[in-house]
Amino acid sequence: MFNFDYYNPTRVLFGTQRIADVALHIPADARVLITYGGGSAEKYGTLAETRAALGDREVHEFGGIEANPHVDTLMRAVALVREKGITFLLAVGGGSVVDGTKFIAAATHYEGDIWAMWSQRLPPQQVLPLGCIMTLPATGSEMNPTAVVTHTELGAKVGYSHPALYPRFAILDPRKSYTLPPRQVANGVVDAFVHVIEQYLTYPVYAKVQDRFAEGLLLTLIEEGPKALTDPENYDVRATVTWAATLALNGLIGAGVPQDWATHRIGHQLTALYALDHAQTLAVLLPSLLSVQRDTKRLKLLQYAERVWGITDGDEAARITRAIQKTRDFFDDMGVKTRLSAYGLPEKCIDEVLANLQRFNLLPQGEHHDIDEIKARRILSLSY
Ligand code: NZQ
Ligand code: ZN
Repeated sequence: MFNFDYYNPTRVLFGTQRIADVALHIPADARVLITYGGGSAEKYGTLAETRAALGDREVHEFGGIEANPHVDTLMRAVALVREKGITFLLAVGGGSVVDGTKFIAAATHYEGDIWAMWSQRLPPQQVLPLGCIMTLPATGSEMNPTAVVTHTELGAKVGYSHPALYPRFAILDPRKSYTLPPRQVANGVVDAFVHVIEQYLTYPVYAKVQDRFAEGLLLTLIEEGPKALTDPENYDVRATVTWAATLALNGLIGAGVPQDWATHRIGHQLTALYALDHAQTLAVLLPSLLSVQRDTKRLKLLQYAERVWGITDGDEAARITRAIQKTRDFFDDMGVKTRLSAYGLPEKCIDEVLANLQRFNLLPQGEHHDIDEIKARRILSLSY
């Protein structure tokens, strides 16, 4: 196992009726900005519950944070935060709203070029405190220090991580996910699944605890993901999926182990260029990446085949092939298509994604830094 620091300061308030407790965790004299997305939080009553819970605090609101949040939109929120002297940010929504709010938290008091800070991963200066009420189990953003934002003019989607960006608290009420359209439920399960894979399916370092945790999360998502689609108001199922998604990317299973993240970094370019949903990019790329990397990932692929998919017969090559096929089938069964062509993308998307990867210095990728332009092209071609 590698050396590691493990730090996670986010308080999780999990279960029903937890929005009422939000006031316990925001200073009584705070000037609060509630941030939200395109309207689901208003439509389904979550904003009303949040306003009521905040009592007589000074509260302002900023809506309209889009999926894959844009820097332009977020800078309008920054202007409001400065104008109103906001001291606490409260995100209500999915990963895009939480990520966008992290950007606002870092940008408000930053002296200098915020995009340069973000894209060059320079440390932030004074960061505003934030909390979140999560309405979509998927990204893990509620309990991690990462945010991904899009710069439309540059065609860039860039992630940034800093310990100052952990939310102070995350309210996770599984019932809030009942109103999600099936596409977002499926996206969430696939995203969480791939988060686990990116931290698990590399090479063995005798990290038995992390491996067993990761396999437990994968098995849980395989069992419960389809039920979340067929039985959408089953509390136990939604609670399980919600907690699995949080644990998939809160640092626990990634401590002390090699990590990949190539599927995510290549996938972000597909979203930036073609507006594919984040999870759609992962469902397309992961099976191809596992095929291209089957030699360097051999030992972990065999472990994954046996412990997650119960594949024990056949020679090694056959077991690996079946495990990759099972992975693809799982995404397809969840209703997330696994071919670029199935989303109507033109074949030239392969060259465009490669150009973006070069332009933003994103190659090489992978746990061995061996995914260069040639391998990235093979992954994309196999994904078409
Ligand atoms: O905008 P509204 O109206 O709220 O609608 C949203 C949006 O259209 C809707 N939605 C959310 N909660 C709902 C709901 N609709 C009905 N009922 C509810 N309870 O769902 C749509 C998608 O929301 P979005 O927040 O974009 O989805 P998700 O949570 O999947 O977030 C995706 C973003 O997170 C980034 C992705 O790149 C992408 O930008 N990621 C962030 C990560 C992190 N911070 O650690 C890691 C991930 O790998 C990922 O990259
Ligand atoms: Zn993801």
